Amino acid sequence: MRIPLRAVLILFAATPVIADDAGRAPDRHAARIEAAMNDDERFALLSGIMPIPLPGLALDIPPDVPPTAGYHRGSARLGVPDLLATDASLGVTNPFQARSGDGATALPAGLALAASFDPALARRAGAMIADEARSRGFNVLLAPGINLARDPRNGRNFEYLGEDPWLAGVLGGAAIRGIQSRHVVAVLKHFALNAQETQRDLADAVIDEAALRESELLAFQLAIEQGDPGSVMCAYNLVNGVESCGHDFLLNQVLKREWGFRGWVMSDWGAVDSVDYFMRGLDQQSGRQMDRAPWFDGPLREQVAAGVVPRARVSDAVRRILRSLHAVGVQRDAPVQAVDATANAAVALDVARAGIVLLQNDGVLPLRNAPQRILVVGGHATQGVLSGGGSSQVTPANGAPFFVDLGGDSPLSSMQRHLYMPSAPFAALKRALPEAQLGFDSGYAAAGTAARAAQADLVIVFANRWEGEFQDAGSMELPQGQDALIARIAAANPNTVVVLQTGNPVALPWLGSVRAVLQAWYPGQEGGQAIADILTGRSNPSGHLPLSWPASIEQTPRGPIAGLGAPPRTSVRIDYSEGADAGYRWFARQGTQPLFAFGHGLSYTSFEHAGLRVARGRLPEASFSVRNSGDRAGADVVQLYLVARAGQPLQRLVGFARVELAAGEARDLRLQIDPRLLADWDRDGWSLPAGVYRFALGESAARLGPTFELALPQRRIQPRERFQIQ
Ligand code: BGC
Repeated sequence: MRIPLRAVLILFAATPVIADDAGRAPDRHAARIEAAMNDDERFALLSGIMPIPLPGLALDIPPDVPPTAGYHRGSARLGVPDLLATDASLGVTNPFQARSGDGATALPAGLALAASFDPALARRAGAMIADEARSRGFNVLLAPGINLARDPRNGRNFEYLGEDPWLAGVLGGAAIRGIQSRHVVAVLKHFALNAQETQRDLADAVIDEAALRESELLAFQLAIEQGDPGSVMCAYNLVNGVESCGHDFLLNQVLKREWGFRGWVMSDWGAVDSVDYFMRGLDQQSGRQMDRAPWFDGPLREQVAAGVVPRARVSDAVRRILRSLHAVGVQRDAPVQAVDATANAAVALDVARAGIVLLQNDGVLPLRNAPQRILVVGGHATQGVLSGGGSSQVTPANGAPFFVDLGGDSPLSSMQRHLYMPSAPFAALKRALPEAQLGFDSGYAAAGTAARAAQADLVIVFANRWEGEFQDAGSMELPQGQDALIARIAAANPNTVVVLQTGNPVALPWLGSVRAVLQAWYPGQEGGQAIADILTGRSNPSGHLPLSWPASIEQTPRGPIAGLGAPPRTSVRIDYSEGADAGYRWFARQGTQPLFAFGHGLSYTSFEHAGLRVARGRLPEASFSVRNSGDRAGADVVQLYLVARAGQPLQRLVGFARVELAAGEARDLRLQIDPRLLADWDRDGWSLPAGVYRFALGESAARLGPTFELALPQRRIQPRERFQIQ
């Protein structure tokens, strides 16, 4: 669907741009336009709505503004485009289906992208979504989200990029570059520590400063340095007792002063509780009908008139917005006229193929195309593939989705339903295995399913768990008796393969009795095809876990989810007492093993790593070789870990490389190491202790290969120092 937008016309009418000189042109441009603005124009940029009528929330929507996540009025006379924001990381969304029939290319879960360990793919995916956003006249993309996974029950982990600051920072930076290469503003979110959905408005994330700097903040800092996003979105939750969107320390001191962030900070929708947030660093109020007041309009004007808020701060906030629009080139280019749906679907397919993780395989996979009886069970596998819920939910472009309603009567209920994308694994498997005889059983009546399973040569069970924004999974279990069903099928047929579609690691109590397990996450609009490609070996699996897979919740730092089951808007405290040692670092610190380690992922070929050396320098540099020692082409994800420092064991991912190799092919690789990954935060900067640093190449955080030791002198790094990693 094409939407004729006023914004599109304004984009055409925009002021011509003078070439950047050393990055100052956007500042000069912003200062010039802001000085020419009147206050109505200024405050229109600072306070905006979600232009969708929601029951019970009064709203005036200008007639030519399309239904989407965010709208701030620009100034036609000054060539400032309206800001039209859309979600997000997995494709252009169509909230509440308010734009009738407007489907977009639906990518797999963010965790699938993260599992690819492929910055080039993250960049391509970002550019693809931004193209589709621009084709609809949207110029702000509320992506990427990079909150680090700290709990395998968090309902939004599937949207994000895993548990590691380097992985999430690098992929987030690449996604931003991709988005902004299409002249759409990227919005890095949610700043910071938005790691739980339960009671998210009032949850207080408590963590000590050094730990915060070494984990979540480091991920954001890296993504900002590498991607230079036009905007950052603050979070719903509190951090150490202060609301994220009114957090002077996080927004003013760290983000703007220390890191030198020159873009604007926008609020999450309904996350502004006071006009005071403006002086504490928030520049723009979004979705203001969800707040108690249009804080950054009337109330802020009053504060300016009363001299409580200096006019210079208003100019600063407006200039930040104008600066980013100019720097990203939003005013510069005509919108994309048409979307190449086929090329974009190929991006979705590539992400799915690269992100599906083969967790276990005793050799039963890849499936042979032979005259055999295969029973496919469960997961609505004849209808499509599951997706995650909430604001990132994309209505797929390639056909009508299939819905399973969950009920509920809130205005958000339509976001609370299972959406299956029309790429049925069953049909794709049939196409890929023409000689086999495929049957389907829903798994609804376990006894009958087990009896059918016993008659088959092989059984493929699809096990699903829907997760989404607004709630966390209460446990690590698969819902609706699927564990019992799998156990029963495996007892009836020893040749059982399980395909999981979940937004997190789940408990796998039947693991020892099945032959293979594939984690497909939410595989996106081409997911059925990708699953069939991996199962049959048309694609060699190469996804590696971007988060640790605990055997049970008891292995993780936290017990019951704070506030789960309490009435809405209950204040809760979440103690991140594991500090920076989340995920694999937690397992290393405890000396325990998860069920599957961070970085784990099997292939149908094998790889060897050798010759690790690490050279000193401002950026220490590792060199090593990788060889495909098997008999088919495949992609390896080599991981470089710091495993001990100055006599202390620890574990940190300090580099990774995804490399495609033909059978027998070898390659020499080099990786530069950001020294902050070797350091600790120490009051006002980074500090590396003098001593011996031991590095190891790994197939995962738990399977380490060649090591190398290097003595390094003591070193301090200033908070503003930046590093360009090649
Ligand atoms: C989410 C954001 C999203 C916004 C706009 C909020 O509920 O937390 O990630 O961008 O809605 O839809």
